[in-house]
Amino acid sequence: MKLPKDSNILVGMERSDDAGVYKISDELAIIQTVDFFTPIVDDPFCFGQIAVANALSDVYAMGGIPKTAMNLVAFPIKEMEISILRQILEGGLDKMNEAGVVLLGGHSIEDKELKYGLSVTGFVHPDHIIRNTGLKPGDKLILTKPLGTGIINTAIKGGIASAEITEIITRIMIMLNRDAAAVMQNYPISACTDVTGFGLLGHLAEMVVDTSCSVQLHAEKIPVIPETFEYAKIGFIPGGAFKNKEFRSSIVTFSAGIDPIMQDILFDPQTSGGLLIGVKDTLAQGLLDELRIKGVSHSTIIGDVTDGPGGRIIVA
Ligand code: CO
Ligand code: CO
Ligand code: CO
Repeated sequence: MKLPKDSNILVGMERSDDAGVYKISDELAIIQTVDFFTPIVDDPFCFGQIAVANALSDVYAMGGIPKTAMNLVAFPIKEMEISILRQILEGGLDKMNEAGVVLLGGHSIEDKELKYGLSVTGFVHPDHIIRNTGLKPGDKLILTKPLGTGIINTAIKGGIASAEITEIITRIMIMLNRDAAAVMQNYPISACTDVTGFGLLGHLAEMVVDTSCSVQLHAEKIPVIPETFEYAKIGFIPGGAFKNKEFRSSIVTFSAGIDPIMQDILFDPQTSGGLLIGVKDTLAQGLLDELRIKGVSHSTIIGDVTDGPGGRIIVA
């Protein structure tokens, strides 16, 4: 595909960043992103909240503030009660209100399978864009939400997860990355992305491929929702985890002691996952403390950036 050229494109499609960024003036650029998917929880209101938290996340990951949104809806109007759609849209609106985002419109089509999401526009100062590249040797990596939503959702669909664990992961998925992003914006961040469909290692791979940096992850430090291990052990691993592994395993080295189950968890596709932030080592502890004080309580330092051999991830 021939990519468009325009001197106002600050972040385009060259390097799978979280969102596109287009310069309006020397003080203002817009961030644009779109995301929608099929329901991952039974409760329609919660599904709406999750879909919106997930769609807004890419704007936060770029260092911006989401401002406006449009609903994207596919709905099986002949088979499903319209009240279900109303609850989804109410859940979505509730999250947009929390984020200070205004809904300007939307579009719906009839479809066999229900889908909901948003297209989002955010603002950022052109000099303060946070890209997914820019990690430097000596940086620490911070992850702000625990892993495991893909595996636990698979267990929920398999009918073996308790109501309690469903409630726990719903709360994690509906949590906006806004507070994490607000804290992050007070620091000179090297790079940031959000952990979604490619899993932790897939999104980390996008941060290091074709760079001269490597990353060393400390497996025992990585926050994981505890039940994830149990469900993964009995086989509730989504197909996406294996695809992610196949796609990126050539650049990842696991130390001999890393449990194969943990390897799958590190590739588990996440919905509305946390921010993955690279920051200078001298600032990392301060940033971490501030994240936790602001209620981003799962935040953890999970790894180090080293110089060479470039483009590799070592999990030890
Ligand atoms: Co993203
Ligand atoms: Co993205
Ligand atoms: Co996205």
